[in-house]
Amino acid sequence: MTDQKNRPVVIVIASQKGGVGKSTLCANLALAAEQEGLGPVALFDADPQQSLAGWYDDREQETPLLAAGAIGQLDAIIERSGEAGIRLFIIDTPPSIANATDDILRRADFVLIPTQDGRPDLRAAADTVERVRTLGKKFAFVLTFIKGSAQAAEAAKVLSREGQIASLIGHRMIFKTAWNTASAAVEAEPKGKAASEIMELWRFVATETGMIKPTKKKERI
Ligand SMILES: Nc1ncnc2c1ncn2[C@@H]1O[C@H](COP(=O)(O)OP(=O)(O)O)[C@@H](O)[C@H]1O
Ligand SMILES: [Mg+2]
Repeated sequence: MTDQKNRPVVIVIASQKGGVGKSTLCANLALAAEQEGLGPVALFDADPQQSLAGWYDDREQETPLLAAGAIGQLDAIIERSGEAGIRLFIIDTPPSIANATDDILRRADFVLIPTQDGRPDLRAAADTVERVRTLGKKFAFVLTFIKGSAQAAEAAKVLSREGQIASLIGHRMIFKTAWNTASAAVEAEPKGKAASEIMELWRFVATETGMIKPTKKKERI
């Protein structure tokens, strides 16, 4: 049985569609958590295309770590990671919510569902939510590749009927250029807009999972 005391917080990034920024968010969230002192973080790449694992292999930096192994062994891999001191375990998934992904979703403490703001994207996000809800998991949407605020606001309105929106991530070249050098926006341009969007997302997830306390306004009596 998994030792709950040492178990890392498990975040799964899932969506019915490919190319919505799942792998990019995994890498950026991992580095955001490390920057905030909430590591060590382990990534797990459950996508057969292995793009996150490839990003990891190309890196020279020591963080984050990559946990490897078969999906069938995930419980043991998470448990071992916890024993080795890993505090956050981020799982990237393939672009479909097949049964294999259900197996992964079951391990999640929190599920992030990235989606673009077009209509077909929102429909796909709704399908993803259904699976996540059936499994009784906490989740939030992330609106990605945002180009215009009007369409994003409309999409946010539609999505908010289904669940909370963790944050909005702009369509920004730095996500791509950083990835191509095995880095991430939060690392390559820590003071940039992309980084601040990711930090906002990270703080949302960290608060929802109890890794950080909600920021409260100071009260005086
Ligand atoms: N917010 C963004 N703005 C611009 N390009 C992005 C953004 N997020 C991801 N990308 C780029 O879009 C492509 C798809 O992203 P990726 O993270 O691989 O998606 P997924 O894992 O969902 O298939 C990659 O080339 C990536 O660098
Ligand atoms: Mg991917």
